[in-house]
Amino acid sequence: MGIAIKPLRPDRPDFAGEVTGIDIAKGVSAAEAAAVEAGMDKYAVLVLREQRITDAQQYAFSQHFGPMETATGDIAKLEDRRLPMEINDISNLDKHGRVLPRDDRRRLFGLGNMLWHSDSSFKPTPAKFSLLSARTIPGEGGNTEFADMRAAWDALDPELQAECRDLVCEHSQIYSRGQLGFTEFTPEERIKWAPVPQRLVRRHPRSGRLSLYLAAHAGAIRGWPVPEARMFLRDLNEHATQRQFVYAHVWRQWDLVMWDNRATMHRARRYDMTKPRDMHRTTVADSAPTLEQAA
Ligand SMILES: [Fe+2]
Repeated sequence: MGIAIKPLRPDRPDFAGEVTGIDIAKGVSAAEAAAVEAGMDKYAVLVLREQRITDAQQYAFSQHFGPMETATGDIAKLEDRRLPMEINDISNLDKHGRVLPRDDRRRLFGLGNMLWHSDSSFKPTPAKFSLLSARTIPGEGGNTEFADMRAAWDALDPELQAECRDLVCEHSQIYSRGQLGFTEFTPEERIKWAPVPQRLVRRHPRSGRLSLYLAAHAGAIRGWPVPEARMFLRDLNEHATQRQFVYAHVWRQWDLVMWDNRATMHRARRYDMTKPRDMHRTTVADSAPTLEQAA
């Protein structure tokens, strides 16, 4: 049986699909990977159920889609890491597998994942795809929501589209965490996460569709006063995350969900943080900074 992809919601035929007929643990051929990438071009979010994979298998599958990122956006010190740098640790666990205390700095930093964002938009070359594998889930809550930034763009008034078209934003993790009152960064972190420029509107290199490139990390617009920029971005975020643009994923153990950070935003939802939640993310890097890409 070959790969098949169908929309998760019949009323939204081009956003969030489910892939069947693939077993990543057995290895994926170049032709199968090409079918998955074609699905990503169309759906931007793909769900693959029952993928009982190791980190090595997840990494090998991810490598089909481009060069890989390392977890330089994480706040844990190297000696405190639970997982290797090839894996983003999306969990509430310390390196001994214990649930982090409520006031742990890593946990509070991780709460930033509950703000709408696009992965690694704070890096000069941001993320292309993220692939998130559910190893342990807390039972209920902890959904991940995805917003279709192509549909959000398409639904903007033409006047607003024209205003957005050539704007350049500044993205930093210091901006996103600052929204939550998390402001205590070390001098080294301030240097490492200094703001980087990203286009506000970008074109998908394969589908040709335009999308809004927004994230909680965006805290300024070049040439604009900061309060005006933040208010403008807040309005755009409100528009882009209306429920008609959103798919909410309810996790099952061993789900692998992959999304295109160039065309979507996502956020985690609340769960009982006294229970372990362990998700492993691999991240495929984009080809170049957004200002160097055709728009
Ligand atoms: Fe994320």
